Amino acid sequence: MDKKLQGQIAIITGASSGIGAGVAKSLSAAGATVVINYPVAAAKDAAEAVLAEIKTAGGAGNTSMCDVSKEDQVQKMFADTVQQYGTVDILINNAGLQKDSPFESMSLEQWNFVLGVNLTGQFLCAREAIREFLRRGVDPKRSRAAGKIIHMSSVHEVIPWAGHANYAASKGGILMLMKTLAQEFAWKKIRINSICPGAIQTPINRSAWDTPEALKSLLTLIPYQRIGIPEDIGNAAVWLCSDDSDYVNGTSLFVDGGMTLYPGFTENG
Ligand code: BGC
Repeated sequence: MDKKLQGQIAIITGASSGIGAGVAKSLSAAGATVVINYPVAAAKDAAEAVLAEIKTAGGAGNTSMCDVSKEDQVQKMFADTVQQYGTVDILINNAGLQKDSPFESMSLEQWNFVLGVNLTGQFLCAREAIREFLRRGVDPKRSRAAGKIIHMSSVHEVIPWAGHANYAASKGGILMLMKTLAQEFAWKKIRINSICPGAIQTPINRSAWDTPEALKSLLTLIPYQRIGIPEDIGNAAVWLCSDDSDYVNGTSLFVDGGMTLYPGFTENG
């Protein structure tokens, strides 16, 4: 088997469930050593289960508890990883959550919690990753790039989403964070891109797929007529981290079954 990420070290935030867990498994299958980040003690068992599955499949890595919205915890996670493995090659800036509310009743706490994890968390992790990439520079035995960051964004970096102003604002922020960092660090051979998932079957959107009625309604938004699975995102992440995409920088890759194709216009307008 052709292992595109052999010997590379990847930190995947929010990897105890959902898209993060799927990406960790895909990167591991591609040869990367994976750091399975999880946010709080309550998620430890889930993170260990992801790691156990990875090890059973022949992969390697460890788990790391860290709330990505906390500077000291993020710095410790990166320092521990560098101490254990020597460096970091890949950051999957994935940790994210929703606290949905009609806007007029959205609390400051709901706003700050979502922005803190989804946007500030991506800032803090990206900064530590870039510091390490700059320190090491390009090592051609590892990759053509000095490092790769994938920001996990969403179709909602372009699709407005009523009742989710905090979440949509965080994803819109990720778009310009990603592009600005890509512009700032391309010169240093650091590649920075986003993946924008559509509806992927995970706990974050359970209510959108766990009854036949909900799924039928969701599919009206997806021209390709199926809900996504974490492996769809994992496959994209492997490509975007590998040298196969070496000339791709500062791009949002939509993996959404056509959700951003304005399906309402298929027979209208
Ligand atoms: C959200 C999901 C939603 C999907 C498509 C994602 O970013 O987290 O809850 O199903 O976008 O709307």
